[in-house]
Amino acid sequence: MIDNEKLISIAKEAAIEAGKIQLDFFGKAKEILFKSSEFDLVTNADKAAEEKILSIIKSNFPEHEFLAEESGLSGDSTSDYVWVIDPIDGTTNYAHNFPHFAVSIGLLYKGEPCIGVVYDAFKKEMFWAIKDKGAYLNNDKIQVTSVDSIRKALLATGFPGTNKAMIEENLKYFTKFIYEAQAVRRPGSAALDLCYVACGRLDGFWEMGLSPWDVAAGICIVRESGGKVSNFAVENYDFKVKNIIATNGLIHSAIDTTIQELKNSK
Ligand code: IPD
Ligand code: CA
Repeated sequence: MIDNEKLISIAKEAAIEAGKIQLDFFGKAKEILFKSSEFDLVTNADKAAEEKILSIIKSNFPEHEFLAEESGLSGDSTSDYVWVIDPIDGTTNYAHNFPHFAVSIGLLYKGEPCIGVVYDAFKKEMFWAIKDKGAYLNNDKIQVTSVDSIRKALLATGFPGTNKAMIEENLKYFTKFIYEAQAVRRPGSAALDLCYVACGRLDGFWEMGLSPWDVAAGICIVRESGGKVSNFAVENYDFKVKNIIATNGLIHSAIDTTIQELKNSK
């Protein structure tokens, strides 16, 4: 096994360098291209930040495998270590100069998240965690809230760009929680939504249609802050199942039960 301190320090260095690239391009005219649809954006900053992250991590760990949002899989597919990278989570916010986006760098060891770094360069907030060693915001240890009912909870979600069935399904959940929770937000960066659960700014988060790079780092950070992460109706989170619930643990089953009850309703 590789020393965790080396892994986290390289992940943080890559996140800081990518954050500098984000800020260099922020607020200036950006080249915006569309991927699968007109709701699926990529900018020149995403590409430049991803190249920087990959070059830093690959030069330190050339024997690992990599899954990055813009360039897909690379490296050694037999490695036990897979780095899961989103150079900008919240690209739509970023493209509109809405300052809520982050770099997300997760590391899986034998399929399980073991390192997570989510860096909000605009706010200079580095969320990070090492499995079994706790979660931190910059130098301070973080933990989830003790809110124990949906009524008192601040929740967040997100909506997939084009999948009409999923959008409509999530609107049912959104409508229900808007009435039942203290409030619901749709901030636009799943990686930060997870970190906000971890540090107690949110009590819970759910979403459908996310990709591994949106959540790999944040899952490690939520778990290490004392929170819980699962798929809908499934205890053990599986990256192949594209839905997620992350909470302080205390309101987890209440959110999951509500979603299950609404799932098949009209
Ligand atoms: C998006 C963000 C957003 C979520 C979308 C994701 P991207 O990631 O995480 O919050 O609602 O589903 O695609 O495309 O900005 O990396
Ligand atoms: Ca992205």
